[in-house]
Amino acid sequence: MIRTWIVKVLTVLSLAALVSVAVPGISTDTMSARAQTQAQTQSQPQKQLPTHLEAIGSSSEMWRAVRGGISGETGLKDPKAGTLVQSEGDNLRAVRNGPISEYGGWLLLASVVLIAIFFAIRGRIKIDAGPSGRTVERFNGLERFTHWLTAVSFIVLALTGLNLLYGKLVLLPVLGPSLFATLTAWGKYAHNYIAFAFMLGVLMMLVLWIRHNIPTLNDLKWLAVGGGLFSKGVHPPAAKFNAGQKIIFWAVILGGGSISFSGLCLLLPFEIYPFAGTFAVLNHLGFDLPTQLTPLQETQLALLWHGVVALILIAVIIGHIYIGSLGMEGALDAMTHGQVDVNWAHEHHSIWLDEVEEKRASGHAD
Ligand code: HEM
Repeated sequence: MIRTWIVKVLTVLSLAALVSVAVPGISTDTMSARAQTQAQTQSQPQKQLPTHLEAIGSSSEMWRAVRGGISGETGLKDPKAGTLVQSEGDNLRAVRNGPISEYGGWLLLASVVLIAIFFAIRGRIKIDAGPSGRTVERFNGLERFTHWLTAVSFIVLALTGLNLLYGKLVLLPVLGPSLFATLTAWGKYAHNYIAFAFMLGVLMMLVLWIRHNIPTLNDLKWLAVGGGLFSKGVHPPAAKFNAGQKIIFWAVILGGGSISFSGLCLLLPFEIYPFAGTFAVLNHLGFDLPTQLTPLQETQLALLWHGVVALILIAVIIGHIYIGSLGMEGALDAMTHGQVDVNWAHEHHSIWLDEVEEKRASGHAD
């Protein structure tokens, strides 16, 4: 009972102190007045705590409690206002600007360097038999629209998202504060709204392509020879999508789905709480994660998760973009006009080509 009252009094007093520091912080006049007051305060001997607060000990103990997240109640509607200082915010910033930015940067760099090495050694993967001049439809208009909707929106999201993480470090010194601020503000709007185009694209991809992306035993055979990507003249049979493409598909569906969901948690902060429940399930598997999380902690975890999954997916997609364009002769045709050379199809998707030709022969083409 006494403790609750102490907490209440502390909260109100500390809130009043914070408001009095924060409110006048705009005009230079008030700033200099504040500086004067601070100087006067510093020159005066330290005042004693009011007697009713002495039960909690010294002011350093009081502030330690505040910094430790002590919470109470206020007259404000928002229950979060009862926590004056949520110190996990510091941890969040430290993790985001520390390991996540650092390892994420290395991951992206590693993916570009690995691709450059692969290109230097293997060169462009050619159609071994040369183009036949005959083509077969690989993706119809709806499939190509879905692909480019997802691809273009993802690229905008990736660039604007990377700007939020690295822009201050990379672009600010080049563009200067004014241009950087304008670009970042517009980038943030683009990031928030174009996210919905990406979500739609991922959903459409799931519906259109899931039946071609169920793992099969043949995928293991494809993987065992590295899909023939590392050696000339090796062409393991594959259906519409080979094992490598199935990995990309599921990375986009699961990774993209997870980024979308955590993005929604950030667009609607303090409304969606996925982590406490997820942690409770993980704890059944032997983890020891906290299951009592405040709305603010939930939102902070969503921010970290969003960044981590996005960085991993960007690294994966860099590899995909390479192999779908520069890395393989004839691949891009599939997503531009939808037709691929029959020899390309025979070398990379022989099972699928046989099925298409069989259907065509029997008059049942899709
Ligand atoms: C400029 C960027 C891109 C290019 C040039 C490109 C190119 C391609 C090509 C040529 C294919 C068809 C491969 C085939 O016929 O077998 C394809 C498929 C696919 N693309 Fe992209 N793509 C790009 C960006 C993206 C992005 C950003 C995503 C998702 C975030 C994506 C997701 C997919 C998926 C899931 C498939 C089906 C599986 C696969 O082929 O790997 N693409 N892409």
